[in-house]
Amino acid sequence: MDSIRIVGGKPLEGKIYISGAKNAALPLLAASLLTDETLTLGNVPHLADITTMANLLSQHGVNISLNGEQKLGGTGRVMELKASNVSNVTAPYDLVRKMRASILVLGPLLARCGQAKVSLPGGCAIGTRPVDLHISALENLGATISIDNGYINANAPNGLRGAEIVFPVVTVTGTENIMMAAALAKGQTTIVNAAREPEVVDLANCLVAMGARIEGIGSDRLRITGCDRLHGATHSVIPDRIETGTFAMAAAITDGDVELIGAKMEHLNSVARVLSKAGVSVTETKHGLQVCRVNGLHGVDVMTEPYPSFPTDLQAQFMALMTVAEGASMITETIFENRFMHVPELQRMGANITVHNASAMVRGVAHLNGAPVMATDLRASVSLALAGLAAKGETILNRIYHLDRGYERLEEKLAACGATIERIRAAA
Ligand code: UD1
Repeated sequence: MDSIRIVGGKPLEGKIYISGAKNAALPLLAASLLTDETLTLGNVPHLADITTMANLLSQHGVNISLNGEQKLGGTGRVMELKASNVSNVTAPYDLVRKMRASILVLGPLLARCGQAKVSLPGGCAIGTRPVDLHISALENLGATISIDNGYINANAPNGLRGAEIVFPVVTVTGTENIMMAAALAKGQTTIVNAAREPEVVDLANCLVAMGARIEGIGSDRLRITGCDRLHGATHSVIPDRIETGTFAMAAAITDGDVELIGAKMEHLNSVARVLSKAGVSVTETKHGLQVCRVNGLHGVDVMTEPYPSFPTDLQAQFMALMTVAEGASMITETIFENRFMHVPELQRMGANITVHNASAMVRGVAHLNGAPVMATDLRASVSLALAGLAAKGETILNRIYHLDRGYERLEEKLAACGATIERIRAAA
């Protein structure tokens, strides 16, 4: 298995191009199942999770072609998806277990074909992450659902019909699944307590371009009036706000000065506010955002919450930053119950962190020391890379397949800004 070697201590300086958002691209790819016409997506990042989704869609019968780079803005690829016929409504365990977001095909398959059989995603490193809310919402839309041998068997032979869906907790992929299903249901669906993440908004905008009727986009109450059919469209994926936040924190932890090209402040207001309190300036430029420290780094308390608050997907990276800040920082995770797996690894690098239930108390230390580390999920892995960039000496980051799921050319982007970082290929 490949690993990444980092020798810390160099300030990051230069420009980093922000890729298309993984979490926006995944539901957008799934939306191709809703129409027999071509959906053309631009700025699609080159990531393992995107390949997994493309493989899943191919086996449902979606024809996918890659059409060069940069045609539709951004740095990513252009992908054309055409689901003339959906030839198979089963999402098999082998693909779903690789990536929980595979659940995003459930709503579109059911709405388009009247049936779907999708493997239950099962547990994952950061918590139990059930899909009960996806299932009960689809039942509200008239589907009959049973769980047999680890598969969600969903049927709606006469089509789905609109209903009021009230989510008891904010669910991002749940909102996306129901929005896609409701776009082809009969009548009106209201989603109450809908997720407002920019990725949900991006999907809604694309669905509208495909002919869907959606009101309240960007609010926590979505009204969707179902259509008989949707048509093809061309849409460009938004820049990745989590990648942006990650590189902003990389600039801050190394006391560097980096311009994040293509990044959008409107998606990062809460993060920029927290960084500003910590002594890091994030300002808009003509092409993106400029990030550097103002004075020293200071400890700041943070609580993760649904958008527009501070994202859980930046919690680990922020914790890495706080390990070398002056003073203390209380970091509270409210979205996932087991999302502190980076803590023991950061401690091995010399961090002073005490976890109590859902909160971690981080007391800043003068410096971290490089160490061999390994992580169990995507964002935890990248937080260790940030720690390695700031640490004295060498850090070897193992199990980097997690990083490849969600960060495009991470080591290249960092090396171009002066970091000493390289991928060590495992012997074949
Ligand atoms: C999405 C993101 C992920 C991010 C998360 C929270 C994608 C592909 N992934 O994941 O990167 O960390 O949002 O911002 O966009 N829940 C239930 N039952 C359900 C669904 C969710 O109890 O049926 C709970 C979850 O366990 C969790 C909370 O709701 O505690 C929020 O999860 P959710 O927003 O659904 O996360 P994902 O959509 O899986």
